[in-house]
Amino acid sequence: MKEDQPSQKLYEKDIMANPKTGAHGYLTTHFANRSREQQSQGWSELWESGQTDFWDRGKPSPALIDFIESATLPRRDGRRLRVLVPGCGKGYDVAMLALHGFDVCGLEVSERGAEVAREFTTSQLSNPSELNFGSKYTHSMTGCVQIIAGDFFKRDWEKLCFEGDTTGFDIIYDYTFLCALLPVMRKDWAHRMSELLAPDGILVCLEFPLYKDLNDIGPPWGLSGVHWNILARGEDGIISEPGEQGEPLNGKFKRTSYFKPPRSYESGRGTDMVSVWMLKK
Ligand SMILES: C[S@@+](CC[C@H](N)C(=O)[O-])C[C@H]1O[C@@H](n2cnc3c(N)ncnc32)[C@H](O)[C@@H]1O
Repeated sequence: MKEDQPSQKLYEKDIMANPKTGAHGYLTTHFANRSREQQSQGWSELWESGQTDFWDRGKPSPALIDFIESATLPRRDGRRLRVLVPGCGKGYDVAMLALHGFDVCGLEVSERGAEVAREFTTSQLSNPSELNFGSKYTHSMTGCVQIIAGDFFKRDWEKLCFEGDTTGFDIIYDYTFLCALLPVMRKDWAHRMSELLAPDGILVCLEFPLYKDLNDIGPPWGLSGVHWNILARGEDGIISEPGEQGEPLNGKFKRTSYFKPPRSYESGRGTDMVSVWMLKK
């Protein structure tokens, strides 16, 4: 699995399509005129017809690997840390996290997507690719993987995760999930994150795409300044300019770390950022 797979090129091509000239990419055309209620169906159709090349990067996130191999993470006595990956796609990051010793729940709105993720994560756990590991990897016990078909914005799937333990996830990881959602869904994304995260858990976001104009049509929707707007300021995230990352801070989250990852996907064009968030006490 190489960095520059055909799949990645397709996604790049799609991103670069110019909505101002009417040259929409395939994804933007596929989702054009779909209401909020029709979004999940739109994703399921892509999975059913095998059109997942638009976002499939072919490997787990180098930025996330480096982060979990070096960060000081919350501790739990007597059990492994529990991670949620919403909109997990084929499950590259789910498998990688389990191989690093986390118990991981991958959530996919598409039944077919969940099936693909189950097959892929099972094969990785029995025969891991070296792409799962960074330079600081030290072997730990492999964690469990659960792939659940469910809608992030509904609560019915939560009882299926970790036998319904309601203490919240220790880590939630978002990459290309927020940018896949209609801008009107951003406020609810932030609200759901606040419901799902454990009181001392961390929300880790690999912010992408930060180079895309906020006014251009998605998915993927440009996100420059959006995380700050919804998580720190508590606003609706529908912004046309990135703005200052300042007050008012009426959101439920505080940002504890923000950095440019030394390694990330080529498609981030050197602009990807990692932000780490905790719930305010
Ligand atoms: C752009 S893809 C990214 C997938 C994955 N994060 C990756 O990097 O390969 C967005 C994914 O989110 C899923 N998705 C969209 N809406 C969702 C929802 N409401 N709940 C759960 N998954 C959703 C889609 O089916 C799709 O697989």
